Amino acid sequence: MKKMLVTGGAGFIGSCFVRHILKKHPDYQVVNLDALTYCGNLENLDDIKDNPNYKFVHGNICNRELVRDIIKDMDYVVNFAAESHVDNSIKHPEIFVETNVQGTLNLLQACKELGIERYLQVGTDEVYGTLGKTGYFYETTPIQPNSPYSASKASADLLVRAYHETYGLPVLNTRCSNNYGPYQYPEKLIPFFISRLLKGQKVPVYGDGLNVRDWLYVYDHCEAIDVVLHKGKIGEVYNIGGHNEKTNMEITHLILDAMGKDESSIEYVQDRLGHDRRYAIANDKITSELGWEPSVTFEEGIKLTIDWYLNHQDWIKSIEDKKLAKV
Ligand SMILES: NC(=O)c1ccc[n+]([C@@H]2O[C@H](COP(=O)([O-])OP(=O)(O)OC[C@H]3O[C@@H](n4cnc5c(N)ncnc54)[C@H](O)[C@@H]3O)[C@@H](O)[C@H]2O)c1
Repeated sequence: MKKMLVTGGAGFIGSCFVRHILKKHPDYQVVNLDALTYCGNLENLDDIKDNPNYKFVHGNICNRELVRDIIKDMDYVVNFAAESHVDNSIKHPEIFVETNVQGTLNLLQACKELGIERYLQVGTDEVYGTLGKTGYFYETTPIQPNSPYSASKASADLLVRAYHETYGLPVLNTRCSNNYGPYQYPEKLIPFFISRLLKGQKVPVYGDGLNVRDWLYVYDHCEAIDVVLHKGKIGEVYNIGGHNEKTNMEITHLILDAMGKDESSIEYVQDRLGHDRRYAIANDKITSELGWEPSVTFEEGIKLTIDWYLNHQDWIKSIEDKKLAKV
């Protein structure tokens, strides 16, 4: 029986991971520590909330006493908790430093003081900056973040590395490309566009729409984290990606087509400040060393995803109602 702390488990990827672990490791106990910020949503975990191996704790990773109290009983810590929206980071960088940097430091310090079998930091490919038309991000690519979001995630990754080098903390660090799938907060491209089209609104495309992202189905990301946590080499970084490079315009057209809309539903808006042009992950290390490979093709995954949002309009509506109630 292993005990695992998952932070940020009420968010998009964290909730998929909690569900995945409870299914794949039925002898594990999972504690989900989540502050339930605007994007944390316990409805994402409705189906497993009564699982006897699952416990939810409402709290902040920056709370030292609470974090220590939980970590003292844990074998594994997997840190998803983060402010994750680049646009918000451009407007309010401070909260990104607080949660993503200070929160991570708080977790690392508690793990160091209390002892832990393995700590895994969930990271992003955005820490590598931007690519030209060719080439890939490798684990050895220099860290060159361009947004306050990616700078805060890069800072967290560097602290994780330092806790390993300085104190010998048994850490692992993953860096994944753009995720898509069910339960993603409708501020991110795919669910945002679907929710706008459902309301008869246009979709805002940044700049020329030719920025490239490498898309991975959320379930495959969670499986990869599970593999790295259990089989990865302590102290190492593992890139996670599925070689699915798409321009924002390609994604937009897939959504428009699936919803019976055309070009007239597109509104071109001023480009995001510091907008990275292209991300592309080399996943050779995780595939060759740990044998992980994506199981869902982009064609399958995008269909599953669009269908899920169209069939869960009540989920989108409940988030929008909560937003309105706060105004
Ligand atoms: N979404 C992607 O495409 C992607 C890709 C690579 C890496 N990541 C990383 O994966 C992680 C999860 O991303 P996501 O898309 O699921 O994000 P999300 O915004 O959907 O979820 C974040 C969760 O963290 C919680 N949280 C925020 N601040 C907290 C705090 N101070 N204490 C405790 N809980 C807090 C929120 O309530 C929410 O449940 C992040 O670390 C992100 O950087 C995301």
